[in-house]
Amino acid sequence: MSKNHSITEEQFHSKNFGDDFIWGISASAPQSEGAHNIDGKGFSIWDTFSERRKKILNGDTPHHASQFYHHYKQDIAIIKSLHIPNFRFSISWSRILPNGIGAINQPGIDFYNRVIDECLANNIVPWVTLYHWDLPLALSHKGGWANREIIHWFSEYVTLCIRTFGDRVKHWMILNEPMVFTGAGYFLGVHAPGEKGLKKFLPAVHHAVLCQATGAKIIKNEIAIAEVGSTFSCSYITPNSNSAKDIAAANRIDALLNRLFIEPSLGMGYPINELPLLKKIERYIKPGDENLMLADFDFVGIQNYTREVVAHTYLVPYLQAKVIPANKRKVYHTTMDWEVYPEAIYEMIKKMSSYSGVKKIIVTENGAAFHDEEQNEKINDEERINYLSGYLRQVHHAKADGHKISGYFVWALTDNFEWTEGYYPRFGLVHVNFETQKRIIKQSGWWYKNFLNGKE
Ligand code: FCB
Repeated sequence: MSKNHSITEEQFHSKNFGDDFIWGISASAPQSEGAHNIDGKGFSIWDTFSERRKKILNGDTPHHASQFYHHYKQDIAIIKSLHIPNFRFSISWSRILPNGIGAINQPGIDFYNRVIDECLANNIVPWVTLYHWDLPLALSHKGGWANREIIHWFSEYVTLCIRTFGDRVKHWMILNEPMVFTGAGYFLGVHAPGEKGLKKFLPAVHHAVLCQATGAKIIKNEIAIAEVGSTFSCSYITPNSNSAKDIAAANRIDALLNRLFIEPSLGMGYPINELPLLKKIERYIKPGDENLMLADFDFVGIQNYTREVVAHTYLVPYLQAKVIPANKRKVYHTTMDWEVYPEAIYEMIKKMSSYSGVKKIIVTENGAAFHDEEQNEKINDEERINYLSGYLRQVHHAKADGHKISGYFVWALTDNFEWTEGYYPRFGLVHVNFETQKRIIKQSGWWYKNFLNGKE
């Protein structure tokens, strides 16, 4: 057992992680900005996908969200009041390039200049994600991620961002969770743009791999001292039984969810042996792509919330594997039906750390949605506090065991638009009343502040 297990609740605080550990909080443009069609912003695929029937719970849309576009000063002031030193947010591609390429929308640029300057004026370090799933609709009409042209479109966008904001932003993340936006958006059809099957999924995967590497190279070429990474979703995978079939099924899901995007960027190619459905990806690989796929990331962002238990089944095409939901397993879970399993974050840090090409790992998202109840202007979200402190103990455990972990960001700053689940799941450390836009810092927010300050 590692030594952190002997740290009592009273003594457990950020100082245990060392002075150079990076602490922060995360958000994204499509989930919090709102203002989807004002000041010249073009539509993104989420703006229109959410308007389609029965795509989003309760018919919610991201059109207004938590109105970070109008409330950014207040939200940054809250970050400051909680003594959180780093803020991760994303740029909306269609706010600054309404058609994805070509004409620049100056009011959109002005907005991000204001956000960045507000962070810096408050001593908060901005960490910028370039792509958090909100592809400009105009580019989706041209095939989106399934069209290899996206490498050029994305390069134009990244170049504009680094030349405009790179004098003040030093920390960049190229993509947010490519597995999720390709898998849910182009294979399962449950996320924007709603495409189904392998035909668009496989080229989308390959082009996302090429873009994550291309984006990193563009930034480094422009500003050598920039710190560049990309973020990867990951879930600890365990087989439902010790049967050879379940174990093999778990390995396939692990290759799909945890290895598909990081391994080609490290020069290891796609995990085709473990995941035969990937064989057809070869038809999208052009001569020279092996090199174009390589990314020399300064850090790798991992986003872990849970573990998945996997069983073999003949009923699921291509994968012959299924995930057994937490409620079926009757284990403690969040409102997303994600099992609360703190050891998962330890296991994922350990797994990422075992790649020799990974230099540094930062948890760029971790957090939980629970039913929050407001009572007398207070939200006593004990479950979220327990969740965060349980996972943080495992992060500390990973650090004490010598794994390459050097930072942690909570998801999320405020309650926001949770994709297909709409506004129902609340992930924020700050509660938002979506009717009035009133903010209330939840007890978990105050807990995080105390944790960061250190209880002596
Ligand atoms: C991650 C996404 C993030 C948020 C959390 C709950 O998959 O990156 O935008 O929705 O899940």
